[in-house]
Amino acid sequence: MNKPGPVVEITGTGRYLPQRILTNADLERMVDTDEDWIVERTGIRERRIADDDMCAAEMGARAAREAMREAGVEPGEVDLIVLSTATPDRWLPATACDMQALLGADNAMAFDLGAACAGWLYGLSMAEGYIGAGRAETALVVATEKMSAIVDWTDRQTCVLFGDGAGAAIVRASSGERGILSSYHRSNGKLGDLLYRPGGGARFPMDTGVLERRDHLVKMAGQEVFKNAVRSMSEAADLALQQAGLRWENVELLVPHQANLRIIRATAKHVGIPMDRVFVNVDRYGNMSSATIPVALDEAKEQGRLAPDMNILSVAFGAGLAWGAIAMRW
Ligand code: UT7
Repeated sequence: MNKPGPVVEITGTGRYLPQRILTNADLERMVDTDEDWIVERTGIRERRIADDDMCAAEMGARAAREAMREAGVEPGEVDLIVLSTATPDRWLPATACDMQALLGADNAMAFDLGAACAGWLYGLSMAEGYIGAGRAETALVVATEKMSAIVDWTDRQTCVLFGDGAGAAIVRASSGERGILSSYHRSNGKLGDLLYRPGGGARFPMDTGVLERRDHLVKMAGQEVFKNAVRSMSEAADLALQQAGLRWENVELLVPHQANLRIIRATAKHVGIPMDRVFVNVDRYGNMSSATIPVALDEAKEQGRLAPDMNILSVAFGAGLAWGAIAMRW
């Protein structure tokens, strides 16, 4: 159910991208691949890779500080921290708590949210729910992903796709007509094995067999994921717009999850929005899982492509399978 008028709005955004760049030419020296294949099939030209001593909590904290600065929020004012990650620094405690400590956001409840690439949009909806229910005032929604730590660097089918990075937003009660207009999220656990890490968790605890089979690293059935991504993102985009009472011609910017340029193009084509109204940075960062959308929003704003009162739509899809879309008046 979506009430008339937005409950919450984003009042600040931030991002952190590691400095180190891994190009397609670098990957040619690591696995049996070639630059043309990667560019043609994915649109990715380079991605960022975090240093060994950089962790998910620290990347998230750097993005969060930028978002808080823009929103004019002190760490002590944050009362809810939702952190989306597929790459927690440790199994216990939540990376959200580690990041909370780095920020000194001592008055917040903090927890991790696992919805893979769709996690930041899920988190935004969580924040909307908490604030709408009167249980929080100032939420920090962060996505931080050190994908390089869980990618199999011997598997050319996956290692060329991912990158590291973090994005963040401060979410507060909407003061007017700006903010979240609608959201739609779904999951399908029956297709969980299309994109997963089979071992190293409680079901198949880490042992030498897991390590030998490289089962602690990401495995993906690329083509199946691709087909589901286009179908689900298109469906979610249509439904979120319908709920918001918007039509595609009123959407000024589509900010999709950045996994593959072909998926982005196919989704845009399905919904009938021209590519000049679609934000794309997958060429520079690859797939940073749930961090792609908050990073894209922050960059779009910086580039002047996102201005107050614009209608925008974000849509994401990933492991779970989990997907969703959020319409906003910026
Ligand atoms: O964040 C959400 C989750 N992730 C995604 O949304 C990703 C979804 N999937 C995809 O983006 C695409 O399926 C991929 C980019 C992963 C693969 O593209 P594709 O067009 O589906 O290629 P494919 O898997 O059908 O492979 C085509 C060929 C195969 O060779 P043969 O069997 O035709 O001889 C692969 O072995 O390309 C080969 N191949 C490669 N060649 C050079 C696969 N990976 C590579 C590579 N370099 N890195």
